[in-house]
Amino acid sequence: MKKKILFECIECGYQGPKYFGKCPQCDAWNTMTEVDAEKEKQDIDSVRIKPVKLSDIDNLEIKREITGLQEFDRVLGGGIVPDSIILIGGEPGVGKSTLLMEVSGILSKKNKKVLYYSGEESAVQIKLRANRLGVDSEDILLLTMGSLEDLKSAITEYKPDYLIIDSIQTINAKKGSMLPGSVSAMRFVTGEIIELAKRNHITGFIIGHITKEGHIAGPKTLEHMVDAVLYFQGEIKSDLRILRAEKNRFGAVDEIGIFQMTKDGLKPISDPSLVFLQQRETIEPGIALFPAMSGMRAILIEIQSLVTESPFAPNPRRICVGFDSYRMSMLISIIEKKLKLPFYKSDVFLNIAGGITLKEPAGDLSAAAALISSYKNKAVPQDLLIIGEVGLTGEVRPVSFVELRVKEGIRQGFSKFVVPAAQGNIGAALPSVDISLFPVENLYEFYKNITS
Ligand code: TYD
Ligand code: MG
Repeated sequence: MKKKILFECIECGYQGPKYFGKCPQCDAWNTMTEVDAEKEKQDIDSVRIKPVKLSDIDNLEIKREITGLQEFDRVLGGGIVPDSIILIGGEPGVGKSTLLMEVSGILSKKNKKVLYYSGEESAVQIKLRANRLGVDSEDILLLTMGSLEDLKSAITEYKPDYLIIDSIQTINAKKGSMLPGSVSAMRFVTGEIIELAKRNHITGFIIGHITKEGHIAGPKTLEHMVDAVLYFQGEIKSDLRILRAEKNRFGAVDEIGIFQMTKDGLKPISDPSLVFLQQRETIEPGIALFPAMSGMRAILIEIQSLVTESPFAPNPRRICVGFDSYRMSMLISIIEKKLKLPFYKSDVFLNIAGGITLKEPAGDLSAAAALISSYKNKAVPQDLLIIGEVGLTGEVRPVSFVELRVKEGIRQGFSKFVVPAAQGNIGAALPSVDISLFPVENLYEFYKNITS
C-alpha cells in the first residue's frame, strides 16, 4: 500500500494532502511540513479514556484550591479546580513564568507538591527568579530541559499534586519522531501530558508562547484539549498585566485579573478603576468616564475622543482604538441627524485609555458624550457618569447591571449619573448617599439638558 502523505502548516495546524508554498488557511509562507498520516492516526488512537456510568459519578461539589492570589482565583472562577488542565498563553516576557512561580510558591506553602518543568531556563535562572519572588521550598521540584520521557518518569517517581509546563513548545517527544515545536508535536505532547495528569490526579498548568502576530499560532490549536485557557496580556513597556479567561469549563469567561509587575513579582491590583483612570485635577473636553462591566465587576474606564477639522473632508478620518468602528460611525450619524452637528467636516478619533476594549453597547451614550464634548470643546462635568445604549432613532435604551455600575461610580466619588429613562427608578437599590440621577429618554434630551 502506498504511504499516505499529509502536509501540515506549523503556524496554524492546517492539514492537507498537497504541499503549498503559502498556507491556504493562514497565508503564512513556507510553513508546510510533511507529517506521517498513519502516525497521526495512531496518536489519536492511543489516548483512551474509559466510559463510566453517569450514576457512578460522585456529585460532590468540586473543592477548589483557593490560592489567595485573588486576581488569579477570580479568573479561574474562584480558585483552581483539582485535576484540571489550564493553558496559559501570552507573549514572551509578559510574566507567565513569574506568575506560575508565584503560584507554585503559594501551593507549596499549602503542602502541595509541585513539579516545575522548564525547557527555557536553567535551574540557576529559575532559582534566581524564585529568590526574587521570595519563593523557596523543598516541595517544589525542578526539571529542566528534559524530554517527555523524563517528565513521565519524574511524575511516576515524585507523584506531584501540581505540574507546571514552561513551556509546551520546549518539550520534545521521543528523539526525532516529530519536528520539535510543530503543531503536531505540540498536540501530541499535550495529549500525553493530559492523559498522564488525569490518570495521576495532577492539576496541570501549561504555558504556551504566543507570537506577536499570532492569534492562530500553535497554542490556539490546543484550546479544545484543555479545561481552561487563560491569556496573560500587557504592554511590556507598561507594568500593567491583565489575565483573562478565553475558555473555562468551570467558570465565567468575562472575568479579568489585574496585576502590576514590580521588581519583586506580580502584585494583584484590587482597585482597578484607579488604574484605568488617569489621575488629573480637571477633565479635558473629549473625555467621558464610563463604568464598564468586566465579569461581575464594574470598572471605571476612560473614553477619549478627538474631533478636529479635517483636511480630507468630505472623506474625513474615522479612527477607533479599543472601540468598534462601525459603532462609532453609527453614533456619529445619529449625532448628525438628531443634534444637527455637522461631523462630516471633522476627523474623529476615539480611544479607550489603558489599552482595553469596550464592547458593551451600554457605553454608547458615554462615547457620544465624549464625541460631542470634543466637538464643542466643552468638558463633560467632572462628577458625572453617563450610562446608556443608544438606538438608531437616538433613543436611550436600558442596560444590564445599571445598579452595579452606579455603585462603582459612587465608590469612586461620583455624585451625578445619567441613566436610561426606563431605569430612572433604581434609587431604592443604591446606598443612601447624596447623589442625583438624571434619567434621559433620548440623545436629544441628553444633549439639551446635560451638555448645554
Ligand atoms: P517572565 O515571567 O520571565 O515572562 P515570560 O515567562 O512570560 O516570558 O518575566 C518577564 C519579565 O518580567 C522580565 O523582563 C523581568 C520581569 N520581572 C520583573 O519585573 N519582576 C520580577 O519579580 C520578575 C521575576 C520578573
Ligand atoms: Mg518564561
